[in-house]
Formats: sequence, C-alpha cells, structure tokens
Amino acid sequence: MLRPGSKDGTAFGFRFDQKRSELSERADDVNSLLPPSRQAPSRSGDTLPVASYRHQILYLVEHHPTLILLGETGSGKTTQVPQYLLEAGWAARGYMIACTQPRRAAAASVAARVAEELGSTLGNDVGYSVRFDSCETKGATRLKYLTDGVLIREMMEDPLLTKYSVIMVDEAHERSLATDMLLGLLKKVQGRRPDLRLVISSATLQAEVLSSFFMPNAQKNGQANIHKGSVGPHVQPGCLGLPSNQNPAILSIEGRTYPVEIHYLTEPTSDYLQAAVTTVVDIHKADLPGDVLVFLTGQEECVGAVKLLDIEAEKLSRSSGYGLKMLPLPLYAGLPVQEQRMALAPAPRGHRKVTLSTNIAETSLTLEGVVYVVDCCFVKQRCYNPLLGLESLLIAPTSKASATQRAGRAGRVRPGMCFRLTTREAFEREQPVVTVPEMQRSDLTAMVLQLKALGIDNIMRFEWLAPPPAETMVRALENLHALGVLDDDAKLTKQVGLPLAELPLEPQLGRILLASSSCGEEAVTVAALKCVPHLWTASRGAHKAQDEARFKFAAAEGDLITSLNVWRAWLERGKDPKWCYRHFLNHSSLLKASEIQQQLVGYMKRIGLPLTSCSGDMDVVRKAIVQGMFVNAACFDRVDYNPLSSDSDPGINVYRLVRPLPLGHHGVRLRIHNSSVLFRSRPPCVVFASVQQTDDGWFEMQGVTAVLPEWLTEVAPHMYGRK
Ligand code: CDP
Ligand code: MG
Repeated sequence: MLRPGSKDGTAFGFRFDQKRSELSERADDVNSLLPPSRQAPSRSGDTLPVASYRHQILYLVEHHPTLILLGETGSGKTTQVPQYLLEAGWAARGYMIACTQPRRAAAASVAARVAEELGSTLGNDVGYSVRFDSCETKGATRLKYLTDGVLIREMMEDPLLTKYSVIMVDEAHERSLATDMLLGLLKKVQGRRPDLRLVISSATLQAEVLSSFFMPNAQKNGQANIHKGSVGPHVQPGCLGLPSNQNPAILSIEGRTYPVEIHYLTEPTSDYLQAAVTTVVDIHKADLPGDVLVFLTGQEECVGAVKLLDIEAEKLSRSSGYGLKMLPLPLYAGLPVQEQRMALAPAPRGHRKVTLSTNIAETSLTLEGVVYVVDCCFVKQRCYNPLLGLESLLIAPTSKASATQRAGRAGRVRPGMCFRLTTREAFEREQPVVTVPEMQRSDLTAMVLQLKALGIDNIMRFEWLAPPPAETMVRALENLHALGVLDDDAKLTKQVGLPLAELPLEPQLGRILLASSSCGEEAVTVAALKCVPHLWTASRGAHKAQDEARFKFAAAEGDLITSLNVWRAWLERGKDPKWCYRHFLNHSSLLKASEIQQQLVGYMKRIGLPLTSCSGDMDVVRKAIVQGMFVNAACFDRVDYNPLSSDSDPGINVYRLVRPLPLGHHGVRLRIHNSSVLFRSRPPCVVFASVQQTDDGWFEMQGVTAVLPEWLTEVAPHMYGRK
C-alpha cells in the first residue's frame, strides 16, 4: 500500500518509476481542501486568478481589436471575462456578447453556471445555443454561450454578426475544425467591422501564432503588444468606438497552480483500462485526501471503468480503516445534464470522487478538488485519408502538450501527482509534441459547403490559421460536385447547393432529405435518429438479451431502416421509458431525436419540400439514402479465412469501395461493424454512413444500408458509369 514517505516503487500493482512525495495529511475531508469559493459558490469569481486582471482585460478590449488571453484552465476565463464585458457595458444599446465553445456540453453547462452567478434564470440575460438546442430570449439575452459551429451558422443570416459587440472565441488551443474556420471568418469580418472586438482565449502558449494571424495584413511585420503587468489607466468602458491600436494585444494570466509530480510506468501495459483501475485503487488505499481524475478515450471506456471501480469500492467499503469512501463517476460529452452536474460538483462529505473522463476534462470543464490524475495517454481523434476519402475515429497517443494540460488538473488545490500509464521512454518517443489541428486531419466537405454558402468562392485563397492539405480540399470539392451541390464552376447550385447549406446536417444526410420527394416523413426521421449518438444503451452485461432485443427491430434493408422500426415501435408504445429500458434503448436519445425531427420538419417546410410518407415502401427510402451516401458504396468481394481457426469459423466478409481509387489504394479492406444488423448477412452491395478504423487496418462500416448496384449507376452515373 502507498504510504507517505514510501521509497519503494512496488507499492502499486503497476510499478511507477518515481518515489512518492512526502504527503503527510490524513484523509479526513476532501471538502476542506477546496478554496472558499467552492464551498460557498456565490460570487466565486472574485477569488479566481482572472479577477485581478479585470481592469487590464477591459482596457485592452477597449483599445485593441483583438485580445489574446492566455491562462491556465480554471483561472476564470470562460465564466468571468464575459461577465466583466457585460458589467462594462459592452452589451448596451441592443448589442450582445458571444462566447464560443468547441463542445456542446461545455456551452450549456457554463451558461448555466454564469446565469447562477448573476442570479438570473438561464435563458434570460445569459443563454446558450448549440445545434438543435438553444435557450435564449430574443431581446433579453445579452450574453450567449454557443458552439463555434452555431456562430458560423448565424453568419449565414448575418454575415457581419452585427448584433455582437464582442466575440470571445474560447478554448482556441483545442484547434477544433470549427474554431479554426471561425477564426478565419472573423478575421474577414473584422476587416469590415472595425468596431467589433475579439477576445481569443487559450490555455496554452500559442499566442504568437494567433497574434500574427490577427495582425492587420498591412502591418504583418509589426509587433504584437504583450502585456504582463499593468497597462495604463482604465478608460471609460463600453463605448463602441474604434480601437486606438490595430495590433492584437496579448495578456497572460498568472494562474495559481501547484507543482505536480509526474510518474511513469516502469513496464509498458497492454491494457490501460485495467492499469487505470489498479492505479486508482492503489491511490485510494494510500488513504490521502484528494479526488482522482482519470483520462480515458471514450464513453464506453469511462462507463466500463466506473463499473469495475464500483466493484472495487464495494470490496474496499467492507474492509475498515479507510477514511474516505470511493465514489466513481463518469464524465463525457453525451452525459445527461443531471449526471454531469454530479461529476462536476464537489465530492460529498466523507467521499473521494474518482471521475472517469474523456478529454472533455482536459480544458473545457474544470473539476475542483482533484489531486491525482491518471492519464491513459491516448485520445480518440478524427483522422482522414483524402486519397481514400474515408474519415474515422482513431485512438492515438495524446500530444505532450495535452499530457501537460492533463497533469495540470492535479495541481489546482495543492501539490498533486500525475500517473501516466506508459513508460517514460515510450512517452518521449511516441507522443507528438503538439496535437495536429483538426483542420488538417478531417473531411472538409461540410466546411467547404458552408464557406461557399457564406460567399467565399475562392476557398484556396481563404486565410487559414493552418492551411488544410490540398488533397483534402480537392476531395471536398469533388464530393460536393458529385452530390450536385456545386456546378462546373464550383458555384452552389440552386436546386441542391442552396437548400443543403440551410440544413443543419452533414451534407450526406441533408442530401437524403432533398432527395426524399415521396418519403419526406421517413427521411427526416432517419436523419434525426442519425444525429443522436447511442440509440442503444450499453448491454448491462446481458449481451444475449440485447442481441435479441435488437433482432426484434432488425430490418434486412439495414441499420437506418432498423432505426425507423425502433422509432415506430417507440411511438406505438407511447414513448414509454420502461419499454425502452426493457429493449436496451436509450430513452433520452429517442426524445432528443423527436425534438430534432420537429426542427427538421420546420426546415423542410421552409425550403418547400413535401413531407409525404412512402407508406412502407422501403425501397423509396433506400433510394433516397443512396442519393446522399453513394460516395460511400462498397461491394462484397470475398471471404477471408484465418488459416489457424477451426472449420466452423465463418470467416470475414471483405468489402471493397466501389468508386474508383487512386493507384496503390485498391488494397483497402472494409467489413461490416459488429454493431450493424447486417453483420452476419452478406449483402452484395451497401452504402454506409461512417467507418471506424481498427488497429490492424480494417475499415469497419457503420450505419449500413443494403442497396442494389444499379441504383448507384442510376443516381451517380458520373461516379459509377452507366453500365
Ligand atoms: O475558462 P477557465 O478554464 O479559465 O475557467 P472557468 O471555466 O471560468 O472556471 C472558473 C471556476 O468556475 C472554476 O473554479 C470552475 O470549477 C468553476 N466552474 C463551475 O463550478 N461550474 C462550471 N460549469 C464552470 C466553472
Ligand atoms: Mg474555459
């Protein structure tokens, strides 16, 4: 067991390479570690590091078109700075303040927190807006937290974003696709609206990149104004005059952080989930105060680890002698709001909170009271191969910059410890220095459509913070051309391009709606169900029962038609949550889908598309699906048998992409993912919604629909010939 002063690395089931620090306190009450602000949440902002920079921030916003604000996670940038701007009058005269977030979950939760701090109801003074969900009151909301994507959408109606006086682009260090795109667009807007102020906040030191990007082009050789201390007298705030200095200002907030000791494994592990669980148990057994934050790569892992730790917690609670009870909680983007609150709230008295989180807790959400971080050193990332035209999520090593951020979460309340579940050598060798911006590893089809809709015709000459690879841009333009979105001059077409840009959907899904003249009702439902993650719940250990439940709804036509069956049955059962539970269906996802469906119906009416039903003729729906997804068509090729397995092994059904591929890429192997209802059948030709790449190079197709090959040639002769 880990004891204060132990010099022996064998204390943990997994050996870590450094001796423990001399932490001598007994575990009594984690809450006593928290700063007073957390014990009494009202006006907590006054004690945050950012509070002593209030005047500087307001001065710099007044005098510079762009302020780049650097500060550790938890210093108060997201919750406090917009409040300062409000108080200083930047939302007077009908103007609003926007604060963008890369993550939907963060936008809603931060808005709720700020509304609470201001003593107002969410949706009045302070609101939020994320895709398919917003809470704001026209005319009353003065501060709005929204995703970068939603702000970009707002530009379609109001290209200069005239209702905003200040736009804070938060979490810019994440370099999400939408953030990078927004920064490029805002730079353009700034050229036309000198009164607009931008605050770009970042948790890591990328200030120079950002500052040189926002330098007026004429003055690119000039210097940014870097502020570390006081900056002259505070002038009358809130006047929407022109800034006195055109260069971006940089302000870095000195955080109050404590040192964090980093530990590495002495031997590599092939099972980081188990290693994480063992490490948490060992930390708990050491009986020192402080919460634990574990970084894993996805929802399933977090939920799985909570289950394992619940069992351990149960065992530990039977052995006496520990001061605290272990309380494992998951935290991920799709978590219901109530559970998210629990994960963010301080641990109840007498408990040690162990939060199992995706990288949402790296910088977007702050957890108080964390003293130990366990980092699996991996992250789920988008990855795009423009030559194959396939985007998938891959579990990849985190960057060193991310690892530093994660470790930093342990040093907020007192000196902490971070346990990296990899060896020091592997960490040095395998982790990249910084994360490649999403722009450079994503499919850009949707983004190019939006840029075109915003009137940016010469995509190649758009100013990027980090230019995307030329092949990816070419592929995006080709995809849009194939979908009928762009004409031969790369302009948006009237019939498809313009209405598609209006729909808040991925181009492929949106295209299905536009192609649904005689099955509009089914098409909006399919699209809505595709927009919610996790229609099915985790198996609760009953795999067979879950398979049987799925089988009840399974349609030979594939997964999207199966989801339609689920939908109908759910409606027939009066949206009964108990029925959902029995059938391993996620009731809240279905409810969300029904909200989205209503919104999509609204769009269909606005665009003037019919909402007729095909009355059970699923070929009509499948043909509409093909119109959106024909680029992702695959045909059955052969069965691969493992020479070492038994005769009864059914082998793997290998599929190939139907569209022509560049030379040297014909070897790409696809198979149907085991979550698909078509996993065991072998339809000769399919279209798929997405792929997931496996470690050994397979692309597994998800959201699969069986189709007839002749439909491909009918719908896309330009891609599949007329044969
Ligand atoms: O943006 P930054 O990381 O600099 O800090 P912040 O998100 O503004 O957080 C400032 C403080 O507010 C932290 O102590 C958070 O724990 C707290 N907070 C919270 O309790 N609940 C939220 N939903 C957001 C922030
Ligand atoms: Mg923040």
